[in-house]
Amino acid sequence: MRLSYKNRLRLIRLLRGCWSAVTTPLSIIILSYSFKVSRAYGMPWNKRIWLGFRFWRNNRRVQSGTSWRAHLLMAMKLLEMDPELKGDVIECGCWKGGATVNLSIICAIIGRRLKVYDSFEGLPPPTDGDPIAEKTFAKGFVPGIFGGTLDEVKNNIERFGEISSCSFHPGWFENSLPQHKGEIAMMFLDVDFYSSLHDCLINLWPHLIESGLLFLDEYVNLPYCAVFYSERYWDKYFSCAPPGLIGAGTGVQMGKIYWDPEIRQDPRQIHSPESVAFCIKGTKALWDFYPDVD
Ligand SMILES: C[S@@+](CC[C@H](N)C(=O)[O-])C[C@H]1O[C@@H](n2cnc3c(N)ncnc32)[C@H](O)[C@@H]1O
Repeated sequence: MRLSYKNRLRLIRLLRGCWSAVTTPLSIIILSYSFKVSRAYGMPWNKRIWLGFRFWRNNRRVQSGTSWRAHLLMAMKLLEMDPELKGDVIECGCWKGGATVNLSIICAIIGRRLKVYDSFEGLPPPTDGDPIAEKTFAKGFVPGIFGGTLDEVKNNIERFGEISSCSFHPGWFENSLPQHKGEIAMMFLDVDFYSSLHDCLINLWPHLIESGLLFLDEYVNLPYCAVFYSERYWDKYFSCAPPGLIGAGTGVQMGKIYWDPEIRQDPRQIHSPESVAFCIKGTKALWDFYPDVD
Protein backbone atom coordinates (compact mmCIF):
# COMPACT_ATOMS: atom_id res chain seq x y z
CA MET A 1 0.00 0.00 0.00
CA ARG A 2 1.42 3.40 -1.00
CA LEU A 3 0.78 6.25 1.39
CA SER A 4 -0.02 9.67 0.01
CA TYR A 5 2.41 12.49 0.73
CA LYS A 6 0.03 13.96 3.34
CA ASN A 7 -0.37 10.63 5.13
CA ARG A 8 3.38 10.04 5.08
CA LEU A 9 3.85 13.40 6.79
CA ARG A 10 1.17 12.48 9.35
CA LEU A 11 2.90 9.16 10.03
CA ILE A 12 6.27 10.86 10.46
CA ARG A 13 4.74 13.39 12.87
CA LEU A 14 3.09 10.57 14.84
CA LEU A 15 6.35 8.59 15.08
CA ARG A 16 8.25 11.70 16.15
CA GLY A 17 5.59 12.38 18.81
CA CYS A 18 5.91 8.80 20.13
CA TRP A 19 9.73 9.05 20.12
CA SER A 20 9.59 12.32 22.02
CA ALA A 21 7.03 10.98 24.54
CA VAL A 22 9.43 8.13 25.41
CA THR A 23 12.77 9.95 25.30
CA THR A 24 11.81 13.26 26.97
CA PRO A 25 11.09 11.92 30.48
CA LEU A 26 14.05 9.53 30.19
CA SER A 27 16.40 12.36 29.21
CA ILE A 28 15.15 14.53 32.08
CA ILE A 29 15.73 11.71 34.57
CA ILE A 30 19.22 10.91 33.26
CA LEU A 31 20.39 14.50 32.84
CA SER A 32 19.18 15.65 36.25
CA TYR A 33 20.73 12.69 38.12
CA SER A 34 23.83 13.72 40.06
CA PHE A 35 25.48 13.15 43.43
CA LYS A 36 27.48 16.36 43.10
CA VAL A 37 24.68 18.93 43.43
CA SER A 38 25.35 21.24 46.34
CA ARG A 39 22.79 20.90 49.17
CA ALA A 40 22.96 24.67 49.63
CA TYR A 41 20.70 25.13 46.58
CA GLY A 42 17.86 23.04 48.02
CA MET A 43 17.45 21.16 44.76
CA PRO A 44 16.85 17.44 45.42
CA TRP A 45 16.24 15.14 42.45
CA ASN A 46 12.46 15.63 42.34
CA LYS A 47 12.90 19.41 42.03
CA ARG A 48 15.53 18.93 39.33
CA ILE A 49 13.14 16.72 37.38
CA TRP A 50 10.51 19.46 37.61
CA LEU A 51 13.16 21.96 36.43
CA GLY A 52 13.84 19.73 33.40
CA PHE A 53 10.13 19.61 32.63
CA ARG A 54 9.95 23.43 32.82
CA PHE A 55 12.93 23.70 30.46
CA TRP A 56 11.29 21.29 27.99
CA ARG A 57 8.02 23.26 28.12
CA ASN A 58 9.77 26.61 27.66
CA ASN A 59 11.66 25.22 24.67
CA ARG A 60 8.28 24.64 22.98
CA ARG A 61 7.06 28.14 23.85
CA VAL A 62 10.05 30.28 22.87
CA GLN A 63 11.82 29.83 19.55
CA SER A 64 15.34 28.62 20.27
CA GLY A 65 18.44 27.58 18.39
CA THR A 66 19.41 25.19 21.19
CA SER A 67 17.67 22.33 22.93
CA TRP A 68 16.28 22.19 26.46
CA ARG A 69 18.64 19.22 26.93
CA ALA A 70 21.62 21.54 26.46
CA HIS A 71 20.03 24.07 28.85
CA LEU A 72 19.50 21.36 31.47
CA LEU A 73 23.09 20.18 31.12
CA MET A 74 24.33 23.75 31.76
CA ALA A 75 21.96 24.09 34.73
CA MET A 76 23.29 20.86 36.20
CA LYS A 77 26.90 22.03 35.87
CA LEU A 78 25.93 25.23 37.70
CA LEU A 79 24.19 23.25 40.45
CA GLU A 80 27.33 21.12 40.82
CA MET A 81 29.51 24.21 41.22
CA ASP A 82 30.74 25.13 44.69
CA PRO A 83 28.37 27.93 45.90
CA GLU A 84 31.42 29.61 47.46
CA LEU A 85 32.88 30.22 43.99
CA LYS A 86 32.19 33.75 42.82
CA GLY A 87 31.07 34.77 39.35
CA ASP A 88 28.19 35.64 37.07
CA VAL A 89 26.69 33.60 34.25
CA ILE A 90 27.09 35.10 30.77
CA GLU A 91 25.14 34.41 27.62
CA CYS A 92 26.50 35.76 24.34
CA GLY A 93 24.02 35.43 21.48
CA CYS A 94 20.43 35.06 22.68
CA TRP A 95 18.29 35.47 19.49
CA LYS A 96 14.66 35.38 20.88
CA GLY A 97 15.77 34.38 24.38
CA GLY A 98 15.02 30.63 24.11
CA ALA A 99 18.05 29.64 26.21
CA THR A 100 17.95 32.87 28.23
CA VAL A 101 14.54 32.00 29.67
CA ASN A 102 15.88 28.71 31.05
CA LEU A 103 19.24 30.10 32.16
CA SER A 104 17.42 32.91 34.00
CA ILE A 105 15.47 30.30 36.00
CA ILE A 106 18.58 28.41 37.13
CA CYS A 107 20.37 31.70 37.91
CA ALA A 108 17.48 32.75 40.17
CA ILE A 109 17.73 29.39 41.98
CA ILE A 110 21.49 29.56 42.56
CA GLY A 111 21.65 33.31 43.17
CA ARG A 112 23.94 34.25 40.28
CA ARG A 113 23.40 37.13 37.87
CA LEU A 114 22.75 36.36 34.19
CA LYS A 115 24.32 38.94 31.88
CA VAL A 116 23.03 38.79 28.33
CA TYR A 117 25.11 40.20 25.48
CA ASP A 118 23.64 40.56 21.99
CA SER A 119 23.26 43.08 19.20
CA PHE A 120 19.47 42.50 19.46
CA GLU A 121 19.51 43.05 15.70
CA GLY A 122 20.86 39.68 14.56
CA LEU A 123 24.15 38.63 13.03
CA PRO A 124 26.60 41.33 11.97
CA PRO A 125 27.86 41.95 8.42
CA PRO A 126 30.71 39.59 7.50
CA THR A 127 34.26 40.35 8.61
CA ASP A 128 36.97 39.73 5.98
CA GLY A 129 38.53 36.30 6.35
CA ASP A 130 35.69 34.85 8.48
CA PRO A 131 34.85 31.61 6.63
CA ILE A 132 31.50 30.98 8.35
CA ALA A 133 30.28 34.53 7.74
CA GLU A 134 31.38 34.35 4.09
CA LYS A 135 29.62 30.98 3.60
CA THR A 136 26.46 32.20 5.35
CA PHE A 137 26.15 35.27 3.16
CA ALA A 138 27.11 33.38 0.00
CA LYS A 139 24.01 31.24 0.66
CA GLY A 140 21.87 34.36 0.32
CA PHE A 141 21.42 35.25 3.98
CA VAL A 142 21.67 38.92 4.86
CA PRO A 143 23.01 40.59 8.01
CA GLY A 144 20.27 40.66 10.63
CA ILE A 145 19.27 36.98 10.56
CA PHE A 146 18.74 35.49 14.02
CA GLY A 147 17.51 38.88 15.14
CA GLY A 148 15.36 39.31 18.24
CA THR A 149 14.66 42.74 19.69
CA LEU A 150 15.43 43.56 23.30
CA ASP A 151 11.69 43.97 23.98
CA GLU A 152 10.92 40.55 22.48
CA VAL A 153 13.59 38.87 24.60
CA LYS A 154 12.54 40.67 27.79
CA ASN A 155 8.90 39.83 27.14
CA ASN A 156 9.71 36.11 26.76
CA ILE A 157 11.71 36.10 30.00
CA GLU A 158 8.98 37.99 31.87
CA ARG A 159 6.42 35.40 30.74
CA PHE A 160 8.41 32.20 31.17
CA GLY A 161 11.63 32.92 33.08
CA GLU A 162 13.02 35.08 35.90
CA ILE A 163 13.69 38.61 34.68
CA SER A 164 14.95 39.70 38.12
CA SER A 165 18.15 37.69 37.64
CA CYS A 166 18.99 39.23 34.23
CA SER A 167 20.79 42.27 32.92
CA PHE A 168 21.00 43.13 29.23
CA HIS A 169 23.95 44.56 27.31
CA PRO A 170 22.95 45.49 23.77
CA GLY A 171 25.49 46.23 21.06
CA TRP A 172 28.06 44.59 18.78
CA PHE A 173 30.41 42.44 20.83
CA GLU A 174 33.47 44.42 19.79
CA ASN A 175 31.92 47.46 21.55
CA SER A 176 29.98 45.92 24.44
CA LEU A 177 32.29 43.13 25.66
CA PRO A 178 35.37 45.29 26.41
CA GLN A 179 33.12 47.05 29.00
CA HIS A 180 32.49 43.77 30.85
CA LYS A 181 33.28 43.90 34.54
CA GLY A 182 33.30 41.16 37.17
CA GLU A 183 34.20 37.51 37.43
CA ILE A 184 32.48 34.84 35.35
CA ALA A 185 31.56 31.39 36.67
CA MET A 186 30.07 30.10 33.41
CA MET A 187 29.53 31.45 29.93
CA PHE A 188 27.47 30.19 27.04
CA LEU A 189 28.62 31.34 23.61
CA ASP A 190 26.26 30.80 20.68
CA VAL A 191 27.47 33.43 18.25
CA ASP A 192 27.89 31.58 14.94
CA PHE A 193 30.74 33.55 13.33
CA TYR A 194 34.49 33.12 13.90
CA SER A 195 34.90 36.88 14.36
CA SER A 196 32.15 36.95 17.03
CA LEU A 197 33.68 33.98 18.88
CA HIS A 198 37.06 35.74 18.79
CA ASP A 199 35.51 38.92 20.31
CA CYS A 200 33.97 36.81 23.10
CA LEU A 201 37.17 34.92 23.88
CA ILE A 202 39.44 37.95 23.85
CA ASN A 203 37.20 39.98 26.13
CA LEU A 204 35.67 37.36 28.43
CA TRP A 205 38.21 34.56 28.92
CA PRO A 206 40.36 36.68 31.28
CA HIS A 207 37.27 37.16 33.51
CA LEU A 208 36.47 33.42 33.72
CA ILE A 209 37.41 32.06 37.13
CA GLU A 210 39.81 29.10 37.44
CA SER A 211 37.72 25.92 36.96
CA GLY A 212 34.95 28.09 35.44
CA LEU A 213 33.09 26.72 32.42
CA LEU A 214 32.70 27.84 28.82
CA PHE A 215 29.86 26.24 26.85
CA LEU A 216 29.73 26.37 23.06
CA ASP A 217 26.91 25.58 20.66
CA GLU A 218 28.81 24.86 17.43
CA TYR A 219 30.05 21.53 18.69
CA VAL A 220 29.91 19.61 15.41
CA ASN A 221 31.73 22.25 13.38
CA LEU A 222 35.26 20.93 13.72
CA PRO A 223 37.15 23.91 12.20
CA TYR A 224 35.25 26.22 14.60
CA CYS A 225 36.02 24.02 17.60
CA ALA A 226 39.67 23.79 16.52
CA VAL A 227 40.40 27.12 18.17
CA PHE A 228 40.13 25.37 21.54
CA TYR A 229 43.03 23.12 20.53
CA SER A 230 45.14 25.75 18.77
CA GLU A 231 48.44 26.21 20.60
CA ARG A 232 49.20 29.20 18.36
CA TYR A 233 45.94 31.00 19.26
CA TRP A 234 46.18 30.49 23.03
CA ASP A 235 49.84 31.33 23.12
CA LYS A 236 49.35 34.48 21.02
CA TYR A 237 46.37 35.93 22.94
CA PHE A 238 46.60 34.42 26.42
CA SER A 239 50.16 33.07 26.75
CA CYS A 240 48.84 29.70 27.87
CA ALA A 241 48.08 26.21 26.59
CA PRO A 242 44.79 25.55 24.76
CA PRO A 243 42.03 24.30 27.10
CA GLY A 244 40.46 21.74 24.72
CA LEU A 245 36.74 21.22 24.28
CA ILE A 246 34.81 18.32 25.77
CA GLY A 247 32.21 16.94 23.39
CA ALA A 248 33.53 18.70 20.30
CA GLY A 249 32.77 16.67 17.23
CA THR A 250 32.94 13.53 19.33
CA GLY A 251 30.50 11.02 20.64
CA VAL A 252 27.84 9.39 18.52
CA GLN A 253 24.65 10.38 20.24
CA MET A 254 22.53 7.40 21.12
CA GLY A 255 19.33 7.41 19.16
CA LYS A 256 20.41 10.35 17.05
CA ILE A 257 21.88 10.63 13.59
CA TYR A 258 25.65 10.99 13.56
CA TRP A 259 26.47 14.11 11.58
CA ASP A 260 29.86 13.66 10.01
CA PRO A 261 31.80 16.67 8.72
CA GLU A 262 30.92 15.85 5.09
CA ILE A 263 27.18 15.77 5.80
CA ARG A 264 27.61 19.09 7.60
CA GLN A 265 28.67 20.63 4.28
CA ASP A 266 25.26 19.84 2.77
CA PRO A 267 23.40 23.17 2.75
CA ARG A 268 20.07 21.45 3.48
CA GLN A 269 21.28 20.16 6.84
CA ILE A 270 21.76 22.03 10.04
CA HIS A 271 23.32 20.35 13.02
CA SER A 272 21.17 18.82 15.67
CA PRO A 273 20.90 21.28 18.56
CA GLU A 274 20.49 18.54 21.13
CA SER A 275 23.91 19.03 22.63
CA VAL A 276 26.72 21.44 23.41
CA ALA A 277 30.45 21.20 24.10
CA PHE A 278 32.33 22.77 26.99
CA CYS A 279 35.77 23.53 28.32
CA ILE A 280 37.03 24.05 31.83
CA LYS A 281 39.46 26.86 32.58
CA GLY A 282 42.66 25.34 33.87
CA THR A 283 42.65 22.20 31.72
CA LYS A 284 45.39 21.78 29.11
CA ALA A 285 44.87 20.07 25.78
CA LEU A 286 48.46 19.44 24.74
CA TRP A 287 49.88 16.49 22.85
CA ASP A 288 53.03 15.54 24.69
CA PHE A 289 54.19 12.32 23.06
CA TYR A 290 56.89 12.72 20.38
CA PRO A 291 58.87 9.46 20.48
CA ASP A 292 61.08 10.37 17.48
CA VAL A 293 62.24 13.75 18.77
CA ASP A 294 65.22 13.93 21.13
C1 LIG B 1 22.18 31.45 16.69
S1 LIG B 1 21.71 32.92 17.49
C2 LIG B 1 21.68 32.46 19.20
C3 LIG B 1 20.63 31.43 19.53
C4 LIG B 1 20.35 31.31 21.02
N1 LIG B 1 21.53 31.00 21.79
C5 LIG B 1 19.30 30.26 21.29
O1 LIG B 1 19.60 29.26 21.98
O2 LIG B 1 18.18 30.40 20.81
C6 LIG B 1 23.16 33.91 17.37
C7 LIG B 1 23.05 35.24 18.10
O3 LIG B 1 24.34 35.83 18.16
C8 LIG B 1 24.22 37.25 18.02
N2 LIG B 1 25.51 37.75 17.52
C9 LIG B 1 26.39 37.09 16.72
N3 LIG B 1 27.48 37.85 16.50
C10 LIG B 1 27.31 38.99 17.20
C11 LIG B 1 28.12 40.17 17.39
N4 LIG B 1 29.32 40.30 16.80
N5 LIG B 1 27.66 41.15 18.21
C12 LIG B 1 26.44 41.02 18.83
N6 LIG B 1 25.62 39.94 18.66
C13 LIG B 1 26.05 38.94 17.86
C14 LIG B 1 23.05 37.43 17.05
O4 LIG B 1 22.42 38.68 17.24
C15 LIG B 1 22.12 36.26 17.43
O5 LIG B 1 21.16 36.68 18.37
